[in-house]
Parts: sequence; structure tokens; C-alpha cells
Amino acid sequence: MSNILVGVTGGIAAYKTAYLVREFIRARHNVKVVMTKKAESFVGHTTFEALSLNPVLREDNTPKPISHIDYALWADICIIAPATANIIGKINAGIADNELLSTILALKCPLVLAPAMNTNMYNNVIVQENIKSLQSKGIYMILPASGLLACQTEGEGKMQEPDIIAEKVLNIFNKNNLSLKVENDMLSGLTILITAGPTKEYFDPVRYITNESSGKMGYALAEEAHKMGANVILISGEVSIVSDIPNIHKVVSAEDMYNAFLSFYNDADIIIMAAAVADYAPVYENIKIKKNDDELTINLKKTKDILSYAGANKKDNQILVGFAAETNNMEEYAKQKLEKKNADIIAANDVSRKDIGFNSMDNEVTLFFADGHITHTGRQSKQDIAKIILAESAILHSEKNQ
Ligand code: PMT
Repeated sequence: MSNILVGVTGGIAAYKTAYLVREFIRARHNVKVVMTKKAESFVGHTTFEALSLNPVLREDNTPKPISHIDYALWADICIIAPATANIIGKINAGIADNELLSTILALKCPLVLAPAMNTNMYNNVIVQENIKSLQSKGIYMILPASGLLACQTEGEGKMQEPDIIAEKVLNIFNKNNLSLKVENDMLSGLTILITAGPTKEYFDPVRYITNESSGKMGYALAEEAHKMGANVILISGEVSIVSDIPNIHKVVSAEDMYNAFLSFYNDADIIIMAAAVADYAPVYENIKIKKNDDELTINLKKTKDILSYAGANKKDNQILVGFAAETNNMEEYAKQKLEKKNADIIAANDVSRKDIGFNSMDNEVTLFFADGHITHTGRQSKQDIAKIILAESAILHSEKNQ
């Protein structure tokens, strides 16, 4: 049983929010409602009081002078349905000129918006930018459906049905709780394929190009997944880590990693690619290159992109998680990788920092999800980051395989 705060704004879909409140109450959750003045011109507050069994926080009649703080701190999750273009813009701008907006600013829990409006308003570039901007700040969107709108036009902008909103809100609530409280057996019965460490690309028998990956991130994922009951297959570049994981396949080059990947990816339920794979490998000389001229040119050729291959051949039941090691424009590049590689999650880390990323004990990742949602982990040990990535992957896997 959780505390669900429902915000209602001034749109015709407000009548459906009464059914949404009823869905939550039937599922034995506690519900409180906050309404804007405009919302009350569509549905009276007494309807929501009768359904939620709690006083409604309103513009003209707040239960206490600082009720917006009480309501905000009471909530485990907050859903605004319908969310008008006006409220979306104001939340994005940080405006707090009514009880609902003040409550939203004081929230300490996940916020979900279910937009509803006329198609032209919904497609307006400003509204779209506001929606994307809120998503990038970690606010969830239950995007509207297409259909006949109150203005008698057909198109996008129709608020999702109450049962769909209720289900998604509860999924988001569970997901947030599970991410924090990783269950020991949540990967039990699943096969997880993980890549870790650097690749070494030899250009003559004794010299090679490599990178700074220590394998700590990939091994933390493998070890935590093993503890959470998964059957782990770890494909690892050369690292100095000693691990008890039963199924480790050591490789040297990007080509070896690709070949090992081909042997195992078919059976994997979840694939997580934390390895720092060389994008280019030198053309190999069979004998040691002699020191002759002042300059030496080594020709490089592109390696196989394993993540791209995994995305292009992803099965319906598989979850694919890629990493993005970036020094600049992290959000832009991570989103490009998410789409181009057909990944479900991209875990982006800033590798220009010395305290996280390559060869450090800690990491800090931003998770970009295929549904547009983004979460930031903050700096934590690689083990704790691994737990979050694994929990998110497990939840996505169970959603996909229901
Ligand atoms: O090993 P640590 O010292 O603990 O450091 C951790 C880490 C910084 C290596 C790790 O957190 C990380 O960011 N791994 C990905 C490194 C990387 O190669 O990022 P990328 O942005 O260049 O590649 C994007 C994705 O494509 C990655 O999932 C990578 O594994 C994959 N890739 C890249 C090239 C290639 N030929 N095939 C691939 O599959």
C-alpha cells in the first residue's frame, strides 16, 4: 500500500481522473488529491473527496496554511492527470503560482505526468520541448493516445485511459523502490552476458594499442548478477582482477571479443556491454617493426561493433544495455547510441573525470532508457552502480516478458 498524490488540472479529461482515483483506492492505496481552480470547473472537489476519502488541497480552501508541503512529503508517488500544456510549461519553468505547482516543487518522490490537450497544442514545438526537458530531468511521462478529442478533431492528445495510467504509475513506483532495494533473487533463472575490460590490439608480435579499462565495472556487474541468482557469462579482456565467477571467457582483441560474443549471445536474457572495445585495430605486421624513420605510420581499420550487432540481432525477449564513455556532450551522444544501437538502456559515464569511469573504485552513470526516461545514479561504488543497472535491467526484462 502506497501514498499516491493525484494532481488534477483544467482539462476535460479531468472526469477520467475520478476513475483513476477509484482504481488506486480499489487497489488499496492511500490517495490524496490536489486540484487547480480550472480543474474544479470540470469536476467538483467533493467528487474527489468522496472517492479519495481525504480532503482535497484546493486554491480557495487549503486544509492548513502550508498544506502543500504536507501533501508533498506524504506522497510516495505523484501523478498529474490530466496535465495541460500550461502546467507542463510551468513545471518546466519552476513556477509555483498555485497550490498544485507549489506541491510539485516540494515533492521528494517520483513525478508522473499524463498530458492531455488538443493535437495542435500537443505538437507545438514549445510543448514538445517542455516534455523532453522534463523527461531529461527524471520526470516520467505517460504520453497521450490518438483518438477523437473533445474539440471534435482526431489526433494525438487524448489522455490515456485510467486503468493504463494506474498500471504505469504503479510500475514506476515499484521500479523506483526496487532500484533502491535490490532483491537478492531478482535475476534468478536468467542468463546474463557481460563484457568487461579493455581489448588489446597488436600491431606487431610485441606491441599493441589498448586503453585504461581495469575491468572493475564489468566484474562488479558480473559478481553482483551472480549474487542475485543469475547464470553469468563474462567475456573479459585482459585484467588483473581475480574472480570466482564460474563462467569467464578471456579474450585479447576486439575480434576475439566479437567471436566469443557470437557463441553466447543467443542464450542471454540480458546483455550488458561494459567493455572498452577498441573502435579501430592496427593492421598487423608478422615481424617486429624496426626502428628506421623518425616517424612511423600505423594503419588502423574499424573493428566490428559488437553492441551494434547485438542491437541489430536483438530477440524480442532480450534486454540490451550498452555503456557510453564520453568526455563531452554526454546526453547527445548517449541518446544517439541508444537509438542507433537499438539498446534498451545506455549507461553513460564521464570518462574525463579521474574519480569515476576508467580504473576507479567508483562510478557515476546517467541511465538513458528507450522510453525517453533518464535517471542519474550519483557517485557510488561500482558494486552499487552495478546493482542499480541490474535491477533496472531485471525490471525491463520482466515487463517485456509478462
Ligand atoms: O573497466 P573500468 O576501469 O571499471 O572502467 C569502466 C568503463 C569506463 C570502461 C565503463 O564504465 C564504460 O564506460 N565502458 C564502455 C567503454 C566504451 O568503449 O564506450 P564507447 O562509448 O566507446 O562504446 C559504446 C558501447 O559500445 C560500449 O557498450 C562498448 O562496450 C560497445 N562497443 C564499442 C566498440 C566496439 N567495437 N564494440 C562495442 O560493443
